[in-house]
Amino acid sequence: MTAAIRPPPTDHASVAIVLLGRGGVAASTTAELAGLAQQLAAQWPGVRVQPAFVDRWQPDLPTALGLCADADTIVILPLMLPDEAALRRWLHKVAMRWRAGRDQSPTLIFGEPLAQAVALPELLAAAARQALDLPDVATLVDEDWRHDPKGWSSVPEHTHHALWCIGPRCAAAGAVALWPVLTGAINQNPALKKRVRPLQTSCQYPCNHGPLMIVYPEGVWYGPLGQADIGRVLAQHVAHQQVVQALRVHGPKEVTNS
Ligand code: FES
Repeated sequence: MTAAIRPPPTDHASVAIVLLGRGGVAASTTAELAGLAQQLAAQWPGVRVQPAFVDRWQPDLPTALGLCADADTIVILPLMLPDEAALRRWLHKVAMRWRAGRDQSPTLIFGEPLAQAVALPELLAAAARQALDLPDVATLVDEDWRHDPKGWSSVPEHTHHALWCIGPRCAAAGAVALWPVLTGAINQNPALKKRVRPLQTSCQYPCNHGPLMIVYPEGVWYGPLGQADIGRVLAQHVAHQQVVQALRVHGPKEVTNS
C-alpha cells in the first residue's frame, strides 16, 4: 500500500524535502535512502528530495540543507528507528545553526518521527503480508553457510587503535567526510600502516571537541581535528611517540607505553 502524499502548499514558490536517516558502514546505506528519495520525488514532480544522514555517512544534515538552500521551505523527514528524543532535539539545533546568519532563510519544518507516523502500522502489515510470498532464507545463502573465511580468525598486526567518532555531532562537524583522510594517512605512511588500526565509533560524549579521535593504548583524546591535522597527529603520536598538545582534549600528556 502506498500512502497518499499531499502536494506542497500552492502559496510556496518552492519546497524541498530532506529524507534524514541513520547511516551505515556500507555504500548500500546510501543506495537505499537514495532510492527512496527518487520514489518520493516521483510522487512530487518539481520537489527536490535530498537524502541525508544523522551519522556514519554523508551528506550530513547541514550539507543536505545547503543543497536545498534555494527552496523557500525545507521539510525534514526523520526516518530514524529507534527514535531518540535527545537526538531529535539536537537535530533541531543543527538546523537552527545552519540557518543562522544566512542571507536567505527558508522555512524549516521537521516532520513527525517515523515511529509516530499514523500510516506506519498499516504499511508494516502490508509488508509482512507480502513477505509471506517470499522464499525461505535457505534460498538466499550458498551451500557453504556453515563456514566463515579463515581470515576472520586472525588478528591483524598492530600496536595502536585510532578510534574515530562518527556519532551524530561529530558527523555534523564533518567527521564522516574525514574518514577517508584518516585511512589514507595510515595507508600512505609506512610508519603507520602496520601499526595503526582505524576504527569507527559512535558518540564518545565530548561532542563539542569533534571531530574526535582517541588513540590507544595510551588513551589520548584529540579534537577538533581538521583535514590537515589527522596524519600529523597520528605520525607524531605513533611514529614519534609525542602527544600533540595543542589538540589534546583528554588523557596523558606524554606517550610512555608504545
Ligand atoms: S558525536 Fe562524537 S563525541 Fe559525540
